[in-house]
Amino acid sequence: MNFANKVVVVTGGSDGIGKALVEQLLSLQATVATCGRNYDKLYSLKTQNPGKPLLTHTADVSKEADCKQFIELVLKTYGRIDILVNNAGVSMRSLVTEVSFDTLRQVMDINFWGTVYCTRFALPSILAQKGTIVGITSIAGFRGLPGRSGYSASKHAVNGWLEALRTELLHTGVNVLWVAPGFTASNIRNVALNKEAKPQGESPMNEKAMMSSETCADYILKAIEKRKRTLVLTSQGHQAVWLNKLFPSLADKLTYKFFFKNGELIK
Ligand SMILES: NC(=O)c1ccc[n+]([C@@H]2O[C@H](COP(=O)([O-])OP(=O)(O)OC[C@H]3O[C@@H](n4cnc5c(N)ncnc54)[C@H](OP(=O)(O)O)[C@@H]3O)[C@@H](O)[C@H]2O)c1
Repeated sequence: MNFANKVVVVTGGSDGIGKALVEQLLSLQATVATCGRNYDKLYSLKTQNPGKPLLTHTADVSKEADCKQFIELVLKTYGRIDILVNNAGVSMRSLVTEVSFDTLRQVMDINFWGTVYCTRFALPSILAQKGTIVGITSIAGFRGLPGRSGYSASKHAVNGWLEALRTELLHTGVNVLWVAPGFTASNIRNVALNKEAKPQGESPMNEKAMMSSETCADYILKAIEKRKRTLVLTSQGHQAVWLNKLFPSLADKLTYKFFFKNGELIK
């Protein structure tokens, strides 16, 4: 598959992996539409890509009405959608004993419901195009991670929902793909919600040692081109998924060791 002249929607394209996807898609001559909550970030993305076929729109994917308006705007502007990448997402950092329900609800509303709303509204056009639906999930969609319970739940939910959808669409010519990036350098850890549903404000991890958002986007686009079913990224990500399948009790112990230092959660 060639991206030239394809209409591709990427939710959350103003930062991190979404931004890298938007920029690579534009360089491959795709027509791109993206959304995010922050107008200034979208405006700067637009001005960084003058003259390119890029539609930016302020929308919060946790809101059904915003998703409807965004997808309708794309269809009105470009006439069709060939590929939808459900990328917009947030993470969280808090133990189950401390976390507010607000944090858990926000994470679920953005990661799960955002995917459901955008997919449902775009589906008639994607069906007509025999196109592609992508969910950017996480290793946390295969293996629950401590301090990230709501995030893990939301990503498991997206994986299950997309797997059901993939099966329903098996004979329609539509491909459904879910991608589990490993640790990837981006803004996600800075804005991860704390127990009070506020951004934690910093990344405790060495972002420089991670896969770049650009490399991650490159793998995602190759998987879309090959109409793959799933894509798990980074060797650490593969180890986590396989270890959890084959030796789940050992995976519990190793995951605890990785995410707690002297009994304290690494945020
Ligand atoms: N980076 C990693 O290590 C990693 C690992 C596994 C999976 N992932 C997944 O990859 C995806 C992209 O994450 P990232 O690392 O690139 O994060 P990021 O750098 O924080 O970028 C997130 C993007 O999503 C947008 N967004 C967030 N909430 C939104 C909402 N309610 N409505 C619309 N847009 C929203 C953000 O813009 P606004 O804030 O302006 O809305 C931003 O453009 C997420 O689904 C994440 O769970 C990331």
